[in-house]
Amino acid sequence: MTFKNDLILRAARGEKVERTPVWLMRQAGRILPEYREVRAKMGGFKELVETPEFACEVTIQPVDILGVDAAIIFSDILVIPEAMGLPYQMVEAKGPWFEKTIKVAADVANMRIAQADDLHYVMDAIRLTKKELAGRVPLIGFAGAPWTIFAYMIEGSGSKTFSKAKRFLYTQPELAHQLLQKITDSTIHYLKGQVLAGADMLQLFDSWAGVLSPEQYNEFALKYISQICDAIKDVPFTVFAKDAHFARKQMGMLSCDTIGLDWTTDIEESRALIGNTKTLQGNMDPCLLYADYSKIKLETQKMLKAFGPHRHIANLGHGLYPDLDKDKVKYFVDTVKEFRF
Ligand code: CP3
Repeated sequence: MTFKNDLILRAARGEKVERTPVWLMRQAGRILPEYREVRAKMGGFKELVETPEFACEVTIQPVDILGVDAAIIFSDILVIPEAMGLPYQMVEAKGPWFEKTIKVAADVANMRIAQADDLHYVMDAIRLTKKELAGRVPLIGFAGAPWTIFAYMIEGSGSKTFSKAKRFLYTQPELAHQLLQKITDSTIHYLKGQVLAGADMLQLFDSWAGVLSPEQYNEFALKYISQICDAIKDVPFTVFAKDAHFARKQMGMLSCDTIGLDWTTDIEESRALIGNTKTLQGNMDPCLLYADYSKIKLETQKMLKAFGPHRHIANLGHGLYPDLDKDKVKYFVDTVKEFRF
């Protein structure tokens, strides 16, 4: 496939780029009035995710409106628990909610290993989006990392502490490993399916990495992330583990191309810990985008200089917040695109 703009793929592979590529986690969503319009036409978030035409439309919106260097397929990490046997609901203004959760051995035994076909609506959305993008920018596919998916399957909703999920690790570690392995196998099928459908690169989101100790992170998270990295060969692969500063050195040893960083980590220190064989992605604090334009420009340029001209993909350190001003978000993107070393 030939792209009009393949900066992000080249940066991920460590090749030379004319400028730093940029995209934003949660770039499709509530900061765009155009998204809210499409969303209002639908019964709810899930219907949007499950209808390829609409998922495609909102996936492409940030490419048109913000000018980002990649699209990310509009979906959610929670489609995997659903495909395994735990359906989720997205409760307006509250977030995800699962009617059933995992408590005992029989619950784990009842979980099926998902196949790519179970998520045919995501594959259809990817195929359609690839066609509509027509090579303008690459399309990113994604999944949740096993620990984060496990945390939702035990907890049944978001949580500040994920104490139920952590209790499970301390009280039923073997059962936890069984479930984590089933999630890992499902995720590998799902990601391979996304590549077959046309995804040009992939990202794994470990949003709740930060509630685990370094030792637990090795045992219950990195072990499975590493299996997934090893299974994906054909496209650049990014691992983003939020608040996993303690695991940066081990993440440098994963067989992936890019490591995502949040804003709590020092850039030079991260480079030293992770090494020169990986691309780094991130890591602006999304709250910078509440500041005035001159401050946004100053801090963005400071970030670009700290990462340097090679092996960097500019992004925020986590997803955009829904109340951010679209013009300021676009200003961040433009500041990156105008900068030259
Ligand atoms: O980045 C993108 O633009 C692609 C789409 C995307 C969504 N969710 C759409 C979404 C991606 C990559 C995700 C991943 C996701 N989902 C993560 C990992 C990344 C992260 O933020 O840490 C997690 C933890 C989830 C689970 C989830 N989905 C939560 C906790 C919530 C509720 C909180 C919120 O922001 O509303 C969601 C809902 C969700 N996923 C929305 C969107 C656009 C908002 C729902 C709406 O439009 O009403």
